[in-house]
Amino acid sequence: MKPKFNVAIIGTRFMGRAHSNAWANVARHFNLAFEPVMKVACGRQIDDHIEGFAKQYGWETVSDKWEEVINDPDIDIVDISTSNKSHFPIAMAAIKAGKHVICEKPLAMTADEAHQMYSAAQKAGVIHMTAFNYRQVPAIIYAKEMIAKGKIGDIRHFDAVYYQDWLIDPEFPFVWRNDIDEAGSGAHGDMNAHLVDLARYLVGEIDDVSGTQTIFVKSRPIGEGNERRLVSADDATSFLCHFENGALGSFITSRFATGRKNYLKFELFGSKGSLKFELERLNELQFYSTMDETGDQGFRTILVTENVHPFINAWWPPGHIIGWEHTFIHEIKQFLDAIAQKTDASPSFFDGWKTQQVMDAVVIAAKEKRWVKLNA
Ligand SMILES: NC(=O)c1ccc[n+]([C@@H]2O[C@H](COP(=O)([O-])OP(=O)(O)OC[C@H]3O[C@@H](n4cnc5c(N)ncnc54)[C@H](O)[C@@H]3O)[C@@H](O)[C@H]2O)c1
Repeated sequence: MKPKFNVAIIGTRFMGRAHSNAWANVARHFNLAFEPVMKVACGRQIDDHIEGFAKQYGWETVSDKWEEVINDPDIDIVDISTSNKSHFPIAMAAIKAGKHVICEKPLAMTADEAHQMYSAAQKAGVIHMTAFNYRQVPAIIYAKEMIAKGKIGDIRHFDAVYYQDWLIDPEFPFVWRNDIDEAGSGAHGDMNAHLVDLARYLVGEIDDVSGTQTIFVKSRPIGEGNERRLVSADDATSFLCHFENGALGSFITSRFATGRKNYLKFELFGSKGSLKFELERLNELQFYSTMDETGDQGFRTILVTENVHPFINAWWPPGHIIGWEHTFIHEIKQFLDAIAQKTDASPSFFDGWKTQQVMDAVVIAAKEKRWVKLNA
């Protein structure tokens, strides 16, 4: 019998579902050192939604009091899948109670908060992870391995976009994601945070940034009547950067990219080759190599489903593709391995903090219309 580790999840909507699916399936596909037990799901209130959610995903009990859940001595792991403003208080309380913590991105509202979370977790000796799930895509991990092997040489460009279009209708109602006091930022924290983490993962640390932010629709309806509320979080943010290794970066995120639902794409151009990834083709990498014979050169598709590719042995035979939900299963597996081996999880709160530093610098750059150096 494997030792059991009891898990509490806070937040039961979109990410609550994605994480719950991962908790429910991780031990079916990976050989873990211990068995995660889905103990309690916690939301803002006890209602039909949370009861149904717990039943559907297999959480043993429900709660509407995260402080109680976190301080329950039976709980070993806290999964924070709530909206952004609550990450800091919940994580700090969980760390204080000695729990291992996985927290959704953006890790915090500001770099200062994120640094406090990272420092507290390190001091307490708990394992901490920031849920940048795109680092858990086999094709992206494989891209990193190819970069490390020198397949594309020195990186010159990292160009990334992350597009959605769910706000194009000006009558779409105001939600917490439009409120800077609840979300910390809009498209920037939601989508650029993923791109910045991938940039740091694949290219390295960012040296300086220059950017711009826009709110296209200034107010949105609330409730049934004619009342509207001012939008305070960005609808779109674009920025440029220099990496410490000399590469150039460009990042575009928008919730007004008409027709694009969840379109994440990046290209890496190096001195010896190039790599391209698109989330809608999650199992594929496009690779161009100058080492191929002249005449044979061209972008080719690597189908990242061979048993030499990351995580694939846990799934299906070559060519039997995996999907978006698998990234969360991989994330939970990495987190549980880190707990078992008492090593740092990756990406950790350190990565959440470093990303948040870039996010904050872009906001200053946009406000002050200038380049902002990160370690100034
Ligand atoms: N990794 C990804 O790809 C990805 C995708 C979407 C969202 N996210 C992140 O996940 C987090 C949650 O986003 P979402 O889309 O699930 O939002 P959501 O609005 O669908 O759900 C938020 C949940 O948090 C709960 N909540 C908020 N404050 C709470 C509190 N104080 N106590 C108890 N419950 C509380 C709400 O009741 C709700 O269940 C955000 O930080 C978001 O940025 C990550």
